[in-house]
Amino acid sequence: MEVIIADDLELATLVADAVERLVRSESAPVLGLATGSSPLSVYDELTRRHEQDGLSFSSVRGFMLDEYVGLPASHPQSYHNVIDTEFVSRVDFADGAVQGPDGMADDLVAASADYDHAIAEAGGVDLQILGIGTDGHIAFNEPGSSLSSRTRVKTLANQTRIDNARFFDGEVDRVPQHCLTQGLGTIMEARHLVLIATGGHKAEAVHQMVEGPISSMWPATVMQMHPHATVLVDDSAASRLQLGDYYRQTYASKLDKERF
Ligand code: GLP
Repeated sequence: MEVIIADDLELATLVADAVERLVRSESAPVLGLATGSSPLSVYDELTRRHEQDGLSFSSVRGFMLDEYVGLPASHPQSYHNVIDTEFVSRVDFADGAVQGPDGMADDLVAASADYDHAIAEAGGVDLQILGIGTDGHIAFNEPGSSLSSRTRVKTLANQTRIDNARFFDGEVDRVPQHCLTQGLGTIMEARHLVLIATGGHKAEAVHQMVEGPISSMWPATVMQMHPHATVLVDDSAASRLQLGDYYRQTYASKLDKERF
């Protein structure tokens, strides 16, 4: 696991660089897209490159991590709508090229299996963008999630509903109780995991993810088992890292800084 500590702008640039390299080098690239505030500066930077440098997403497929159960795609806070507003509609993805789990399906179990199948059919995810919850969840894999789980229905933890109430006018009761989420096993099949975390409220989760024992109590710790995982954090999110100085030194002396 590579840990890069930098400011928000630099983190966004580095992740956008990795996405751009992938998009320009593969004929049918597959991107894993996360919602939440953490990747927003990356989506802004990719949109800028699309507008100013002609970076095209017309051959790119996208798979979202998760979706609330029971929010129609047209709901402002459905992840389908959020990713469309924040990124997809701002660049040139082909119609239908970005999909997410169907949280409105009558049969959520079948919809979950179909989703894993669709990812596999597309050849798997090349680069998965991730954020992390304050309780260490990735996608919506809450503490206690099986480390080999597949896409499935989950019940949101209270902490997650409290954290996400800001998107529902501060009303926790309006945050759905259930979601469909890629499992930790599904996410681990992506060829490159790129996780972004900023702010002091993420510091404990980041410390556990990078340096804690692998445990379903901190689901993101599963990433320690991935052969190609990059964690990009700002100073605040890095503030509880025991080996922070070592990560800084390692990155400062890295020979090919563009590559991660
Ligand atoms: C939600 C999403 C996660 C995201 C997390 C953190 O729970 N399901 O994918 O990583 O929030 O969000 P933020 O980046 O806004 O802190």
